Amino acid sequence: MDQERLLRELTEFLRIPSVSTLPAHNQDCRAAAEWVAAELRQLGCRDVEFIGSDTHPVVSGRGPDVPGAPTLLIYGHYDVQPPDPLAEWTKPPFEPTVSGGKIYARGAADDKGQVFCLLKAIAASPRPPVNFRFLIEGEEEYGSKVLFDVLKREPERVRADVALVADMSYVAPGWPAVYTTLRGICYAEITVRTSKTDLHSGEYGGAAPNAHEELCRLLTRLKGVNGKVNIPGFYTPVQRPSKAELAAWKTLPFSEKDFLQKRVQAKALVGQQKYSVLERLWALPTFEIHGILGGFTGEGAKTVIPAAATAKVSMRLVPNQKLSAVERQLAAAVERFAPKYVTASVRFLHGADPAQIKVDHPAFKLLGQAFKEVTGRATVPARAGGSIPVVPALASGGAPVILTGIGLPDDRLHAPNEKLDLKQLWDGIEVFRRFYGLLGETR
Ligand code: BES
Ligand code: MN
Ligand code: MN
Repeated sequence: MDQERLLRELTEFLRIPSVSTLPAHNQDCRAAAEWVAAELRQLGCRDVEFIGSDTHPVVSGRGPDVPGAPTLLIYGHYDVQPPDPLAEWTKPPFEPTVSGGKIYARGAADDKGQVFCLLKAIAASPRPPVNFRFLIEGEEEYGSKVLFDVLKREPERVRADVALVADMSYVAPGWPAVYTTLRGICYAEITVRTSKTDLHSGEYGGAAPNAHEELCRLLTRLKGVNGKVNIPGFYTPVQRPSKAELAAWKTLPFSEKDFLQKRVQAKALVGQQKYSVLERLWALPTFEIHGILGGFTGEGAKTVIPAAATAKVSMRLVPNQKLSAVERQLAAAVERFAPKYVTASVRFLHGADPAQIKVDHPAFKLLGQAFKEVTGRATVPARAGGSIPVVPALASGGAPVILTGIGLPDDRLHAPNEKLDLKQLWDGIEVFRRFYGLLGETR
């Protein structure tokens, strides 16, 4: 493996600031799509197309025909989350830097580095062992609307024997994993309006309603101090993991103490104490506030009663919860909890159903074998707290969806100084090269 050349190429890909949620980066998203398309052509793909959008296209393609061999659908995303807060990056987020055997950049692990890994594993194969199909999208971090629409129109695009998604991590260093569930998500803005315009807080304070105060009260009614979400009906479909699954989690190399001290780096963990931390992360739904807009937040002081306030929130959903039901439940709860004298509204930005994947198809064994040969340990089943919106749609064609990855739990996805360990990348290229080969032998 020519690691220097690979690093140069990965650096080129990571340099493109393809932030899908910010319209100012539309051209960059397009440029990242072009990068992927050029890579697919290099691999000998036919029918490399941009579908669904000019600025955030899904890049699709088909590898060379391998008669009699299985078809493997590879999914990934070339878009990334915004890099802010910029001041906290040691090196700029779109100037990839190698240091201490790791490459630092936005997208290093999520997901450009992993898409790169899957593609270079094909390039490292002497000849294509399976029939490759690709769907590499550019809007995963904003809810995958483009790809959803494409798959609604052309469901045959997910037809394959196996689908492979490398957008996850090991459960711990040395412990590769396959994931049996992903949480879904319901992302919304809750806006509270209390008066026509802002008001002088001396002239009106004490008698006029305050939008920020009303929004805060509403938010604390939606979720209590014990971490329980108080949206009526929210937990009704939620099922606890089986005893066997909870017991299996106890054998994973996960320590609540290390999780707090090394990863969260806070003074305490929160949430419903009667459930283990893994159960809270993997098997229970959440309600989080991402940001609150409105009122005066500039430098200095301004004495004003804000007339409007907006909170960006999201709920993570677990198997058996339905996005459509949760949207209705949130809207009804906001309506019910807001006092009559305020106007409260909810706007939904994006969402996804949770995913549940059976890992009993023979392809999971082959991936486990490939990991074992390269890293010394086969994959362990685990659950994931994050979301990949299109996974239920990818599974709808009947192919088993393998959720795995080469990242590590401390890669700082969506946060400053995101990184990918290069050893994970080089091992990963070898793992997937072997996996493709093993899958190709099952004709
Ligand atoms: N790769 C992540 C999903 C992920 C992260 C899975 C960690 C397992 C562990 C993905 O890119 C992601 O961040 N998804 C978003 C989706 C959302 C914006 C619709 C997420 O989970 O916030
Ligand atoms: Mn991702
Ligand atoms: Mn992500």
